[in-house]
Amino acid sequence: MKNITEAMKWRYSTKDFDTNKKISAEDFQSLKDILRLSPSSPNIQPWHFVIADDEAGKARIAKGTEGMYEFNDAKVKDASHVIVFCSRVYADDEFLKDVLDKEDADGRFAEPKFREQIH
Ligand SMILES: Cc1cc2nc3c(=O)[nH]c(=O)nc-3n(C[C@H](O)[C@H](O)[C@H](O)COP(=O)(O)O)c2cc1C
Repeated sequence: MKNITEAMKWRYSTKDFDTNKKISAEDFQSLKDILRLSPSSPNIQPWHFVIADDEAGKARIAKGTEGMYEFNDAKVKDASHVIVFCSRVYADDEFLKDVLDKEDADGRFAEPKFREQIH
């Protein structure tokens, strides 16, 4: 815990990016794996991550800063990679059934009643 407290004292949110620096493919793959492995209840993974790592992709995402959020434009364009976190806002029965079927196929439920409980 002490290490986390110490880390919190020096951590900061980067607001200015060096355009000459690029996150390595290996490091970025680790980040993608971490995102993909994030926990969600009950494993519905209600997200998509839209990633831009080239000028054209970042310019496209930067369009979202036009107007009131113009001050974010350079951050989006200068960063090595940009991730837009998109969240599912609605999960209907059909979607949840697909998740349950996959979980079932993967052997998550030791007994059928557990599947029903999750449902
Ligand atoms: C509601 C909300 C909106 C924010 N919008 C932006 C933003 O548009 N651009 C940005 O660079 N940071 C934004 N931030 C992040 C804050 O400016 C700040 O960096 C963050 O809270 C962490 O603090 P720190 O700068 O001391 O690391 C936002 C934070 C909150 C809570």
